[in-house]
Amino acid sequence: MARIIYVNGQYLNYNDALIHCEDRGFLFGDAVYEVCPIIACRVVDEEPHLMRLERSMRELAIQPPMSRAALSNVLRETVRRNRVIDGSVYLQVSRGVGKRDFLFPAASTPRTVVCFARSHSSERLEALAQKGIAVISAPDERWARVDIKTVQLLAPAMAKEKARAANAKEAWMVDRDGYVTEGASANAWIVTNYGEIATRSASSGILRGVTRTVLMEFLAKNKLRFTERPFTVDEAKGAAEAFVTSATNYVMPVVQLDGQPIGDGKPGPVTLRLRQLVVAAAKTAASAG
Ligand code: PDD
Repeated sequence: MARIIYVNGQYLNYNDALIHCEDRGFLFGDAVYEVCPIIACRVVDEEPHLMRLERSMRELAIQPPMSRAALSNVLRETVRRNRVIDGSVYLQVSRGVGKRDFLFPAASTPRTVVCFARSHSSERLEALAQKGIAVISAPDERWARVDIKTVQLLAPAMAKEKARAANAKEAWMVDRDGYVTEGASANAWIVTNYGEIATRSASSGILRGVTRTVLMEFLAKNKLRFTERPFTVDEAKGAAEAFVTSATNYVMPVVQLDGQPIGDGKPGPVTLRLRQLVVAAAKTAASAG
């Protein structure tokens, strides 16, 4: 089936889905985005993703191109037209088109809105989760406002390339003090040998992941001990378990860091249990949505 992509009010065939070469997203990375999971044809956690998109736009003084309800409609219609059952939907808003100038164009400049959806095999993802992934550590070379979900993704792309060269799937980025910030496209977590579940606080150096927030709500509800604190690469290497969270992976076990096994080198029981909980919650949210 031909892919259909939403561009500025139109649902277009893949080959016709084009934007202008003076789009500020292309020239300056002046654009923000979201990725939402799709389960059983439904967009999961749509509201928190659209809220975060609104925050990203606010932080960059990009006027929202349309209401939240209208953006929601674009997400759903793109999923429907592409007949995606399980997968993800990507939504990007740039500041629009203008002659190349560092200064922002007038706020009324039409923003560029693009949305596309993709199918993923949930079986393949589950099989990967049963095996777990390897990660490497790499210096965090991103700009200081990583709390905003912008399309300036060259540093994470380079970190992922490094990971691929080392047969790993993800890179855990490390700040100047030696603490892990987050993965190139996921939040980073450990489970210590004392059963403490830890992830860095969203107040500095990371994106506040929607999956991270969903998982934290669970942990709190189930009275599981977790702490928002930074951890070093060495602490992670000595941890009992590790995992990452993101919209496309839910909870994904990490079984190796810089070539060293974490715990017994297999997905840990706490991680697998948390994965079950988060996937079940996403399925419930999908059936209710
Ligand atoms: N990435 N941290 C970073 C740097 C990310 O890019 C992402 C998501 C996350 C996890 O956020 P969430 O749970 O809301 O997906 C954390 C998406 C999936 C991407 O860029 O493709």
